[in-house]
Amino acid sequence: METLSVCLEDRSYDIVIGHSVSDMELLRQRLPDGVDTLVVTNDTVAALYANRWCAELAPHYQKVHVVILPDGEAHKDWQTLNLIFDALLTHGCDRKTVLYALGGGVVGDMTGFAAACYMRGVPFVQVPTTLLAQVDSSVGGKTAINHPLGKNMIGAFYQPKLVICDLSTLDTLPERELSAGLAEVIKYGPIADMAFFAWLEAQMDAVRARDKETLAYVVRRCCEIKAEVVGQDERESGLRAILNFGHTFGHAIETGMGYGVWLHGEGVAAGMVMAAELSRRLGLVDAAFVARLRALIERAGLPTRGPVLDARDNAGHYLEHMRVDKKAEAGEIRFVLIDGPGRAVVRAAPDALVREVIDACCSD
Ligand code: NAD
Ligand code: GLY
Repeated sequence: METLSVCLEDRSYDIVIGHSVSDMELLRQRLPDGVDTLVVTNDTVAALYANRWCAELAPHYQKVHVVILPDGEAHKDWQTLNLIFDALLTHGCDRKTVLYALGGGVVGDMTGFAAACYMRGVPFVQVPTTLLAQVDSSVGGKTAINHPLGKNMIGAFYQPKLVICDLSTLDTLPERELSAGLAEVIKYGPIADMAFFAWLEAQMDAVRARDKETLAYVVRRCCEIKAEVVGQDERESGLRAILNFGHTFGHAIETGMGYGVWLHGEGVAAGMVMAAELSRRLGLVDAAFVARLRALIERAGLPTRGPVLDARDNAGHYLEHMRVDKKAEAGEIRFVLIDGPGRAVVRAAPDALVREVIDACCSD
């Protein structure tokens, strides 16, 4: 078991990374205290891991309740969020009830948001079971649901008390979901650590073959980078925005296609190529860098071109969605761009240039 820390004064917490929860005896000493606990999961993950988790938690809490949400990004909405509140109230849960988010980023984001809201805040623990959630979404306290007009637009910053990454859960992850998680892994290279990017180029086959030690390093290195960034800028007043590399285009793809059609990581993958290409057209990186990024994304089993959202005015359609992005200011879209390999900047770009990039980077 390895432990990293997210340092945020009185909101600091640990990320525990292990090959299985059989180390639970050690872990148990660190679980937040409470009488009741509610495990929030979805129908897919419940079938695989709910019994095991409830059994692990049973010695620590008097009551272990479970709520099972419908699976999928399309259910990351008010209606599904309300199922968590229904369960909390039905079971008479109090302020000290501990919520456990057992699942991928969708369950994690919704559980965190519910924890932020219920009785104005109850403790919660992230137990991420996808690669994407282990390397990104479970760390840093961003919680949200989607709105039909914009991805993750309703939410709160609310930190977990603990993050438990059980690497053995990745054994059951479908291939497409593993690849989706790799988009968020790859992003850490161009924005912060090109040595890690080069390591990924060398290790991509081992990563996709789910070699245990290789995956353990991936999760650890990504969490280290994320913890460092979040520790400096918890509420995204500046630096933290770099973690959204590829997300401005990616969110437009997810919203434009309908939630769940393209996976979050797939949208980010194509979005990173578009953001890199925009950086190149602004003179910030050369063509060789864009080609290198595109090649690694392709080797991860991810799309490198965006979909056509509207045959008549595709670029206009993307721009319309991107204006709803949280980084936009006074209607002006701000992009995370690569200002030389390993360094990101956040800035606006002329609409005409963005249109050129979209036209060059999308196809049916
Ligand atoms: P997800 O939560 O939808 O999980 C992907 C699929 O894998 C689901 O069908 C799920 O049921 C299944 N699954 C989960 N664990 C499994 C396992 N161990 N074995 C088999 N199947 C398993 O998607 P995701 O990629 O984990 O997360 C994407 C979400 O995360 C998006 O909504 C995105 O906006 C959000 N996100 C949030 C942050 C943040 O900082 N809060 C960062 C990145 C992404
Ligand atoms: N995934 C982006 C962030 O946590 O800021």
